[in-house]
Amino acid sequence: MASKESFLFLEIFVIFVLVLVFSTKASPSSTSSREAEALLKWKASLPKQSVLESWVLPEAENTSSTLRSPCNWNGIRCNRAGSVTEIDLPNTGLTGTLENLDFSSFPSLVGLDLRENNLTGTIPTNIGMVSSLTYLDLSTNYLNGTLPLSLANLTQVIELDISRNNITGELDRRLFPDGTSSSKTSLKSLKNLLFQDTFLGGNIPEEIGNLKFLALLALDDNFFCGPIPPCFGNLSELTVLRLSNNHLSGPFPEKIATLSKLSDLRVFTNSLSGVVPVGLGNSSSLVVLHLAENNFTGHLPPQVCRGGNLVNFTADHNNFTGPIPTSLKNCRSLYRVRLEHNQLTGYLDQDFGVYPNLTYIDLSFNNLQGQLLSNWGECQNLTLLKIAGNMITGKIPDKISSLKLLVDLDLSSNRLSGEIPDSIGNLAELSFLILTDNNLSDRRLHEDASFEIEQESFEWYNPEPNR
Ligand SMILES: *[C@@H]1O[C@H](CO)[C@@H](O)[C@H](O)[C@H]1NC(C)=O
Ligand SMILES: *[C@@H]1O[C@H](CO)[C@@H](O)[C@H](O)[C@H]1NC(C)=O
Ligand SMILES: *[C@@H]1O[C@H](CO)[C@@H](O)[C@H](O)[C@H]1NC(C)=O
Ligand SMILES: *[C@@H]1O[C@H](CO)[C@@H](O)[C@H](O)[C@H]1NC(C)=O
Ligand SMILES: *[C@@H]1O[C@H](CO)[C@@H](O)[C@H](O)[C@H]1NC(C)=O
Ligand SMILES: *[C@@H]1O[C@H](CO)[C@@H](O)[C@H](O)[C@H]1NC(C)=O
Ligand SMILES: *[C@@H]1O[C@H](CO)[C@@H](O)[C@H](O)[C@H]1NC(C)=O
Ligand SMILES: *[C@@H]1O[C@H](CO)[C@@H](O)[C@H](O)[C@H]1NC(C)=O
Ligand SMILES: *[C@@H]1O[C@H](CO)[C@@H](O)[C@H](O)[C@H]1NC(C)=O
Ligand SMILES: *[C@@H]1O[C@H](CO)[C@@H](O)[C@H](O)[C@H]1NC(C)=O
Ligand SMILES: *[C@@H]1O[C@H](CO)[C@@H](O)[C@H](O)[C@H]1NC(C)=O
Ligand SMILES: *[C@@H]1O[C@H](CO)[C@@H](O)[C@H](O)[C@H]1NC(C)=O
Repeated sequence: MASKESFLFLEIFVIFVLVLVFSTKASPSSTSSREAEALLKWKASLPKQSVLESWVLPEAENTSSTLRSPCNWNGIRCNRAGSVTEIDLPNTGLTGTLENLDFSSFPSLVGLDLRENNLTGTIPTNIGMVSSLTYLDLSTNYLNGTLPLSLANLTQVIELDISRNNITGELDRRLFPDGTSSSKTSLKSLKNLLFQDTFLGGNIPEEIGNLKFLALLALDDNFFCGPIPPCFGNLSELTVLRLSNNHLSGPFPEKIATLSKLSDLRVFTNSLSGVVPVGLGNSSSLVVLHLAENNFTGHLPPQVCRGGNLVNFTADHNNFTGPIPTSLKNCRSLYRVRLEHNQLTGYLDQDFGVYPNLTYIDLSFNNLQGQLLSNWGECQNLTLLKIAGNMITGKIPDKISSLKLLVDLDLSSNRLSGEIPDSIGNLAELSFLILTDNNLSDRRLHEDASFEIEQESFEWYNPEPNR
């Protein structure tokens, strides 16, 4: 019995070894020659181009299998078994269509990067055949037509970028997990999803809220309409959310403000309305916040700079009322701030601090009071300071002339009084100085010839700045 068993075992072992030898030696070469053929077939369908020059097989039919593999071709990478894992041809001038690329021929393909090329035509349906793909970047091409539903087959894709193409149609909800645990196909592994600047429209599917690994969602510069799905508040890994330049309407979902990793939120130029959640910036450290050009009302969130990292902040052209966010006062990280065209109240001399990195601040057309203190002169990097159309009183401080980089200064339509400091004439970069509609006296205006002066209006314009 024992010897019979061990004989049987030996027999099985030998078969196993044979299978192993066969599968590690013979199968890769057949896989890789199938891959090579698929790539050559694609190449043959494209206009002749130098980027694909290395894509050739040796003439002789009996050449060894390594020479017949595509692994040394430009842009092609393989695994140890000689099967293609990556096709990387970004920014190579690649021209033609994807129509004749047989995606089903690449069982090991994990990365396909064809961004910044001249690809035209549609995204073929059989792209769903490369189900091992984890990285797909077709951005910045001329691809058109709609997104194939077969993309839902790419269950392992972590990054999908189809930005800057002529893609039309809608984002089909079936591309995303339906929220049940059933093993339906979907793009369920996505961390980064980018469809910037295409022609996609319709509603944003709320199923995107079920992508539990999602860290970056960029749907800006499209034609999306309807609401921001409230379930985006479930995306606990989200750090970047960009929805600007669409036709989105409705409120800003409250729960998004509680996402603890959110650092970059852009919803500018939509038709969003209602109140921005009071807790925005309270749970996470915002670096970029753009709320501009919507129909928001109510107060600005007081904690926008609670983390002390806010760099760019815009809320201009809305209907915000109430005070300047308290956390802005000590927000030394600020670089660019636009709050113009709202109905904000508060005091210029109490609600703001000193911002060493600030280059641009526009507070025009609000209801701000108080004085322009000399500590604004410590914002040494300012190139633009606009506070027009408020109720600012007092004098223009001499210290304003220490803003050596200032190009634009607009303090028009306030209640400023006293004399215009002579030293303003020393600001070498100043091109636009608008002080009209105040109670300023004009003594200095007659003495300085370096500006073209409209005396009556106090509007100065220097057409040739010393650069
Ligand atoms: C195989 O290759 C050798 C040299 O590379 C060549 O002389 C021979 O004709 C080839 N045989 C076949 C069957 O192609
Ligand atoms: C790609 O398209 C651009 C713009 O249409 C064109 O200028 C450029 O020559 C094209 N490149 C190639 C390699 O065809
Ligand atoms: C999805 O992937 C499977 C397995 O690779 C394949 O058989 C099927 O045809 C694919 N479906 C689509 C729609 O691409
Ligand atoms: C892409 O869209 C632009 C803008 O509408 C258009 O000018 C261009 O012809 C389109 N290109 C293709 C390949 O569809
Ligand atoms: C896509 O662009 C091609 C030209 O590159 C054009 O012939 C075709 O009609 C376009 N298809 C769609 C659906 O817009
Ligand atoms: C958000 O997730 C919770 C569970 O974490 C779930 O009960 C709820 O339905 C989800 N909300 C939305 C709007 O999907
Ligand atoms: C803002 O709302 C008002 C009143 O509801 C409406 O008239 C206006 O068109 C809206 N503006 C924008 C930019 O959506
Ligand atoms: C902000 O966070 C603090 C502490 O983390 C908490 O006490 C406060 O209620 C929060 N405020 C809002 C508006 O969420
Ligand atoms: C502000 O509100 C007024 C009155 O409701 C409305 O007419 C106007 O369009 C709003 N402005 C913006 C920028 O939404
Ligand atoms: C802030 O805005 C400026 C000007 O638009 C831009 O160059 C810079 O990259 C922005 N900073 C961040 C952190 O987004
Ligand atoms: C100012 O900007 C520099 C360069 O971007 C940065 O290293 C520094 O931390 C910023 N200062 C503050 C106070 O954020
Ligand atoms: C101001 O600008 C200079 C040069 O543009 C830059 O090096 C510096 O980081 C900025 N910030 C501060 C705090 O000076």
